[in-house]
Amino acid sequence: MDDSKQLDELLSCRLGSGAKKVTPCTIVIFGASGDLTSRKLIPALYHLHCEGRLPDPFRVIGFARREKTDDSWRAELREALGRFSRSGAVDEAKWEEFAANVVYCRGDLTDGDAYAKLRDRIAESESEQARNNVLVYLAISPSQFSEVVARCSAAGLLNRDPDADAWRRVVVEKPFGRDLESARTLNEGLMEHAHEKQIFRIDHYLGKETVQNILMFRFSNSIFEQLWNRQSIDHIQITVSEKHAVGGRGGYYEEAGALRDMVQNHLLQALALVAMEPPVSLEAEAIRDEKVKLLQSIRPFDPARIADQVVRGQYFAGQIDGDARQGYRQEPKVNPESDVETYVALKMFIDNWRWSNVPFYLRTGKNLPMSASEVRVQFRPTPNILYAAQCGSRLASNSLTLRLQPNEGISLHFNGKVPGSSMEVRPVRMRFSYDTEFGAYTPEAYERLLLEAIAGDATLFIRRDEVETAWSIVDSIRDGWTDVPLTNREFYAAGTWGPVAADDLLASSGHKWRNPQPIK
Ligand code: BG6
Repeated sequence: MDDSKQLDELLSCRLGSGAKKVTPCTIVIFGASGDLTSRKLIPALYHLHCEGRLPDPFRVIGFARREKTDDSWRAELREALGRFSRSGAVDEAKWEEFAANVVYCRGDLTDGDAYAKLRDRIAESESEQARNNVLVYLAISPSQFSEVVARCSAAGLLNRDPDADAWRRVVVEKPFGRDLESARTLNEGLMEHAHEKQIFRIDHYLGKETVQNILMFRFSNSIFEQLWNRQSIDHIQITVSEKHAVGGRGGYYEEAGALRDMVQNHLLQALALVAMEPPVSLEAEAIRDEKVKLLQSIRPFDPARIADQVVRGQYFAGQIDGDARQGYRQEPKVNPESDVETYVALKMFIDNWRWSNVPFYLRTGKNLPMSASEVRVQFRPTPNILYAAQCGSRLASNSLTLRLQPNEGISLHFNGKVPGSSMEVRPVRMRFSYDTEFGAYTPEAYERLLLEAIAGDATLFIRRDEVETAWSIVDSIRDGWTDVPLTNREFYAAGTWGPVAADDLLASSGHKWRNPQPIK
């Protein structure tokens, strides 16, 4: 080990006992023929296997309706891994080792006999623990969640016993409902057959390194946390911009829209981590308690005045990097008169002691000039004396940017004297880059999430009250949009930073959007 690595090792503090303790188990993937399985789940499990992080032994059983054999499914997965592996080349020996534990079970989700067949396949394992510990992964449509869980329970694959020696868990993909009522119904359906402690609701943003780093950054550094309040912070912006269009997902998007697709989950989760109070411990429930409290402190939206606080937008034809992009209404499976939002910007307040009257601006959209997610903390300006007295608004206030993706890192912006005999001041930047500091490796969110679910740690998953609180926020916004068509100020050309109405939203409080910048 070279000197600098040795020093890093000395300075690092490993939390808990280090590597997660995992026990032999069987992972059953419902929706085995789906995109998520080949694109994310199997590559994540393969990489965990390569790193020796999966339990020994483990088995993966894919369940789906299409006719396949173990071998033909493995061949399909191998081909997909070649395309989606984050590490590029696939290590054939490791793949063979991994694939030997992967089998397929053909069946219809509504057919009770298919679950008996599945139970038989689980029973094939030579390891008693792998036969008894079962992780059920629902990579299927939410309309099928309740039935599959009920059938798993009837076949003895799930039980409502969080403390049993042999564990049974269920991982649920998003979307988790389409409003509060449907989320409640889903929760009730799931909870008939599994205890809350056995349910792992996914939001893949929580699996991202940089999102996890928000809490570590806040609560392991004294300098910033002291400033993390209304006395020092003027406002906070959270941007999740996406360069790609809705593309082939028009049908889904017509039902969802950006508010349900991105705000209800990813943006509100990021907000909760940025703004929550310190938890009493690092235990899952302590952290989730604080996140829920934060979401509950968001000032309710008044549906009658929603346009003052929330702007939706929809892209029309434009260009990105010289590529022509068609309008949303021209996308396949989209109603040519659709009013569904492909962009949303919100101005919100958190009515608690720390954040009273500090605006939080959140925005997300498709077909924006670049894909980037960041949290920008804008500090208050200096008093209007000395430099500020001369430069006025041209003297930038300090800001801290947590770049969540890509070019992950953290930048602090402050003012500095331009060298020379004249007195000139301009903003300069100090930047920490993950790549430079830790190397280019950033694990896929799904690797972390799958490992946590296998280990039974729910910290990175969404609790029932969290998901329901998020839906109640989103529902009140949607109520304000009912039967209100989009106005001209809410359309934006593909390749621009969103509709004019979103600029107005901030201008009304003297602020403006800070767009993510390319980082070299
Ligand atoms: C998904 C949304 O949850 O998140 C997509 O359904 C979106 O519409 C995606 O593109 C963004 O995820 P990421 O990890 O690419 O930022």
